Amino acid sequence: MHPMLNVAVKAARRAANVIQRASLNLDTVRIEKKRHNDFVTEVDQAAEQAILEVIREAYPKHAILAEESGAHGIGQSEYEWIIDPIDGTTNFFHGHPQYAVSIALAHKGQIQQAVVYDPNRNDLFTASRGVGAFLNDRRIRVSKRTSLNECLIATGFPVVDQSMMDTYLAMLKDVLAKTAGARREGAASLDLCNVACGRVDGFFEFNLKPWDIAAGSLIVQEAGGIVTDMDGEDGWLESGDIVAGSPKVLAQLLQILAAHR
Ligand code: IPD
Ligand code: CA
Ligand code: CA
Repeated sequence: MHPMLNVAVKAARRAANVIQRASLNLDTVRIEKKRHNDFVTEVDQAAEQAILEVIREAYPKHAILAEESGAHGIGQSEYEWIIDPIDGTTNFFHGHPQYAVSIALAHKGQIQQAVVYDPNRNDLFTASRGVGAFLNDRRIRVSKRTSLNECLIATGFPVVDQSMMDTYLAMLKDVLAKTAGARREGAASLDLCNVACGRVDGFFEFNLKPWDIAAGSLIVQEAGGIVTDMDGEDGWLESGDIVAGSPKVLAQLLQILAAHR
């Protein structure tokens, strides 16, 4: 394993320990609202601190973009860690076991290393650029399905900024009509990993943040999948509008989505 990925895995496991300990006493967890339908708990913050400690000990000069504490030293290093301590916070504090720790490392703006760890299933997804994607050390690939009507599509509802809601619902209606079904599981990093290992065939969502998608996207790409924005272009990390799937599924999904833009 690449030494930087090793550090990412160590940090993700450390954070998961903090999270799973807290999950035993959810009644006592303090929850704050950042915006409408956007929450943070003291556990998000503690898990993020655990990650920062591990990364800073190994690489004190690297820059960091972390969901809860923001940007540290951006522009001062070629390396940037992109961190979501709990992706799926709303699930977490409801005791709904679908959330993950997501950590990516970019070098000169290109994501090179990725880990997404689901502590409830003990699923450790990892990828290094050019080396492949793995689930608990076994190589993973995107699904082989080619006809959209057999495909299961993951998505996320645009519940924080609801300005896209009508467009989104028109897309979802069409997706439901033309596929085997849709799933809204509530953690974008895991939605992407599920594309990578073929548990779903495709994924689309608007308005995500870099920490939701940086790690999962490399895992999809290294599993033979493609990640684009809603126009089939790059720029998804900046816009947060993202579509993912195998090359064949992605093309069909983009066609459906385009009809409603
Ligand atoms: C959220 C999850 C969810 C997505 C939201 C994200 P958070 O991340 O990834 O699936 O639909 O838009 O904000 O806030 O739980 O880290
Ligand atoms: Ca997130
Ligand atoms: Ca989060």
